[in-house]
Amino acid sequence: MFEHLKAVPPDPILGILSAYAADPNPKKIDLGIGVYKNEAGATPMLECVVEAEKILIATQTSKSYLGPPGVVGFNSAMSDLLFGPDSDVLQQGRVRTIQTPGGTGGLRVAADLVKTAVPDAAIWASDPTWPNHMAIFPASGLPMHAYPYFDRLNSTLRFVEMMESLRQRGPGDVVLFHACCHNPCGVSPDQEQWEAITNLAAERGFTPMVDIAYMGFERGIEEDTLAVRLFSEKCPEVIVVSSCSKNFAVYRERTGAISIVCENDQKAADVQTVINSLTRKNYSMPPTHGPAIIDIILHSDELTKLWESEVTTMRNRINSLRKTLSEKIIASGISKDFSFLQRQSGMFSFLGLSVEQVHRLKNEFAIYTVDSARINVASFNDGNIEYFIDALSKVLED
Ligand code: LMR
Repeated sequence: MFEHLKAVPPDPILGILSAYAADPNPKKIDLGIGVYKNEAGATPMLECVVEAEKILIATQTSKSYLGPPGVVGFNSAMSDLLFGPDSDVLQQGRVRTIQTPGGTGGLRVAADLVKTAVPDAAIWASDPTWPNHMAIFPASGLPMHAYPYFDRLNSTLRFVEMMESLRQRGPGDVVLFHACCHNPCGVSPDQEQWEAITNLAAERGFTPMVDIAYMGFERGIEEDTLAVRLFSEKCPEVIVVSSCSKNFAVYRERTGAISIVCENDQKAADVQTVINSLTRKNYSMPPTHGPAIIDIILHSDELTKLWESEVTTMRNRINSLRKTLSEKIIASGISKDFSFLQRQSGMFSFLGLSVEQVHRLKNEFAIYTVDSARINVASFNDGNIEYFIDALSKVLED
């Protein structure tokens, strides 16, 4: 049965993990996968997670099934975080949040949901977008198209072209947005631009899907939900997919959620039954360890405060690395302009290097990035930043 199967190349982002691990060079730097690292280059558990896990272990009495929606307290806490506990959509019962195996699992559930609802729907994603978006939606049978987003020459948002493209979208089109910390380019619309985008969605009738994987890493936890809140105020239907991998640092616990906003409470209840049936055919029920931890954190004032301060620490560190990197590049005499690093947000930015230059960074300096020259800014620290800038100047010179 498998005789016709040929090996496929590794995923462009995950492939870096194994190549980096196998590299014996002590100076190696992994700027690939989007995982937060501290000054020591480690990805430790958050203190709030350690505390909540102790509580969970001391109090959990069963590992029996919880049913398709998983940890109900997690689902409602995520709804509160995303939409605001006093929001009209929550008060009107128009939202259902259901935990999923990570944000990626949530995107796949969202894809199956769209395919079930409108079999000939199409997904429109920013150019560029997270490469895995380009795989997940077609895996559910949905065609994907791109709308203009990133100006590679100026490292800015192509807002006018984006709006022109979105003006052509209408009912049956799903338009995917990154709520904050755009992956891979680090450029987000500002508040006024988000307002214009959400007005356009309401006017044209396309369905917004918001991927929020870095809540808290751009401006603040609540601030980063701006797109979710504007779309859900203005549009009758919205799909939101959230991830807790980064902001709770529970990457391997696969903790995320899909939230659907519907026209009314009854429709939301109906759509939830469709989601339950889709996930039953897929993974039956979601894993609950990560969500149970987050349920504990978000239902404790003390642990919530601790979490907020830990997210602030991660955000501030990334922003200060962006500043340091940009300043040190200027001080090194590199003439290419990298000042955009300071204006962008989240873990990712494009360096604007050719594939050949990316390969030189890897082969000559053991510095690993994806071929698109996307870097994870959180991977820098005092011990590796000068080495990186030196290598960058060499590959730019020749
Ligand atoms: C990334 O883009 O590096 C992260 O979202 C991790 C992943 O799964 O690709």
